[in-house]
Amino acid sequence: MSTRRSKLTRRALIAGGGILGCCVAVSAAGTATFFLANQPESTVGDLAFTTPLDIPPLLEGEPDANGRKIFDLTLQTGRTRILPSGEAETWGVNGPFLGPTLRARRGDVVAFAVRNDLPEETSIHWHGMHLPAIMDGGPHQMIAAGEAWSPEWTVDQPAATLWYHPHPHGETAEHVYRGIAGLFLVDDDESDRLDLPREYGIDDFPLIIQDKNITDGGEMSMDTGSFFEQVGGSANFGILGDTILVNGTWDPYLDVTRSLVRFRILNGSNARFYNLGFDDDRPFRLVATDNGFVPGEPVDLTRLQIGPGERAEIVVAFSEGDDVVLRSFELDGLDRQIGGNDSFDVLNLRAAGPLASSPSSPDDLGSSGQAPTVPDDATERDFELDGHNRINGQEMDMTRINEVIPAGALEVWNVRTNGQPHTFHIHGATSWVLEVNGEEPPAHLRGPKDTVFIGPDHAVRLAVQFDTHVDPGTPYMYHCHILKHEDNGMMGQFVVVEPGTEADVPMTIDGHADH
Ligand code: C2O
Ligand code: CU
Ligand code: CU
Repeated sequence: MSTRRSKLTRRALIAGGGILGCCVAVSAAGTATFFLANQPESTVGDLAFTTPLDIPPLLEGEPDANGRKIFDLTLQTGRTRILPSGEAETWGVNGPFLGPTLRARRGDVVAFAVRNDLPEETSIHWHGMHLPAIMDGGPHQMIAAGEAWSPEWTVDQPAATLWYHPHPHGETAEHVYRGIAGLFLVDDDESDRLDLPREYGIDDFPLIIQDKNITDGGEMSMDTGSFFEQVGGSANFGILGDTILVNGTWDPYLDVTRSLVRFRILNGSNARFYNLGFDDDRPFRLVATDNGFVPGEPVDLTRLQIGPGERAEIVVAFSEGDDVVLRSFELDGLDRQIGGNDSFDVLNLRAAGPLASSPSSPDDLGSSGQAPTVPDDATERDFELDGHNRINGQEMDMTRINEVIPAGALEVWNVRTNGQPHTFHIHGATSWVLEVNGEEPPAHLRGPKDTVFIGPDHAVRLAVQFDTHVDPGTPYMYHCHILKHEDNGMMGQFVVVEPGTEADVPMTIDGHADH
């Protein structure tokens, strides 16, 4: 990691320069890497697809005598051969790199033993989960090196593809990048009823897409090829890697054996956006977004933009003999800082033999993901994400409560960006996009969300359904999920309290991590 001093030096170099103004300063600094790194990256047509896609093991919890489901997770370091050129030091959960896919059902009481065998303190956050703030695993629930943390809660939300990752304030980007991440699948009666592919590793696959920079010796580099990391300062979007991994696998292929396949896609990257589609432009159906099923009809797409922290479940039809590539195409109008003009081959899908038939893809996904009707007198709050990692002019402060929310509230949050793109994530709540720049959102934003893309100088109007776990002393977070922005302070804290007690809530808290 670069030191604070070198960042300040770079910041001083570009003082007064806007994002585009940086170019001059960097060419003055004379780094050849910049000129290379600032070219669009592309691996289209370059991969041989020689490595079978790794499928993370499924962990469904061991039932104990009290009917709880017990999950043991150990955070550890390891060595992983990401590229053939050598091994990288990686971090993982119950293994050297990435973590198992967790699975639970609505109504389950889940209990975790999270043991931190990493060399430093961290936390594990359950992204998208509705749960008490003290179990959320944000920056107030740190796990010291060598210690364990035992959160427990009742899963009570619609079926969805959630995920888990570290959330130590200021270090989230590094800890996620090193490899601590995994999916957390929630099932319910509705997901049982819908006739969707659901056999894990057979016709229902996780696809955790991440970008890394790998050195010639095969190590994972914390430096980035990104011009923006090099210049630091307000234009800093963090790591933008040129090696794309799926479930930690580089150059991956997957043998398809069913006529219909469901992919649960997580953009687990620090900053990079993807614009996913197939090289033959075949259509696919979007059936679920971050927090559950798309209401009513699935959305037929040929491209899907997905930003850091977002999830999407898609269903794709295959025929015998298919040999297609899942690709990330260039994104119109999104620039270099989040990889907008890059393109990558992501995963080769081969349907060589005869395909067993899968469940069909239902034309009606029910109403579990339907946006609630927002009453006219709903509380509205405004948030501005600026170009200096601040929200409403303030940097994240662990001791400050920014917002107090009455339990169960359905509110309108108006979130605006200033110059840069961001992805806005709210813990412990489900959001629906009501408007983008005053207009009805595109069809792929109809579903329930917890992490929402907001383009440069865009305004998004969100309906936010908060949960009912009250705790005036322990905040949840909201923040940009471009991890460098989050680490640099683009984050705020809210508490959920008994309605009517809002005025009594202390607006400062002990900022030290509690256990
Ligand atoms: Cu995915 Cu606050 O986190
Ligand atoms: Cu989260
Ligand atoms: Cu951001």
